[in-house]
Amino acid sequence: MKLLQIDSSARAGSVTRRLTAKFAEEWKSNHPTGELIHRDLSTTRLPLITDDWSAARVDPSALSPSQRNYLATSDALIEEVLAADIIVIGAPMYNFAIPSLLKAWIDQIVRVGKTFSYGSNGPQGLLGNRKVVVITARGGAYEKGTPNESFDFQEPYLRHIFGFVGLTDVAFIHAENQLRDAAVPSLAAATEQIARVAA
Ligand SMILES: Cc1cc2nc3c(=O)[nH]c(=O)nc-3n(C[C@H](O)[C@H](O)[C@H](O)COP(=O)(O)O)c2cc1C
Repeated sequence: MKLLQIDSSARAGSVTRRLTAKFAEEWKSNHPTGELIHRDLSTTRLPLITDDWSAARVDPSALSPSQRNYLATSDALIEEVLAADIIVIGAPMYNFAIPSLLKAWIDQIVRVGKTFSYGSNGPQGLLGNRKVVVITARGGAYEKGTPNESFDFQEPYLRHIFGFVGLTDVAFIHAENQLRDAAVPSLAAATEQIARVAA
């Protein structure tokens, strides 16, 4: 069993970093022989999508050295995902959505012919059979059924894009109210959920 831990917070004292580490620790104690791979996006060179991205549609045998070089990060990040049985992602809420580092990672792993393909029935995700756990931290609260729910552009987007590449087994753990008085109980509730999901 392999766990891929992905962190995307810009902050060293981050809530999501603490919670993904807690998840990895719980998972390790439940899977003593399991392997943990840690991908910290704040220390990863993530190329932006440029005109060079068209190389992703070129037959691999026909790629030029510079095209190969441009796609090398995407190749490596996709390999990490393919090797993982379970992926835990720390996703702070920035401006109601995900950090640009996490978006840049998604742009590298959503790749035609590698993680999705187009068939007679339209697009088909190729990354099935992996569980994803997304741990978010937010300054405010966006609970389902509340007026703030419509401001949450994290969970709906991540569910959609992961589903597009075949990752449909996705659990969300939200540490809400991190900039409010309710920060401590919200964190405790998220930690308790982590122990249950990691088991
Ligand atoms: C640039 C930036 C934008 C933020 N935007 C929001 C927001 O739209 N809604 C919200 O509830 N909290 C927002 N916050 C607060 C963070 O979501 C909160 O501090 C969270 O704990 C960050 O995750 P981290 O502790 O893992 O870094 C923002 C924080 C930063 C730094």
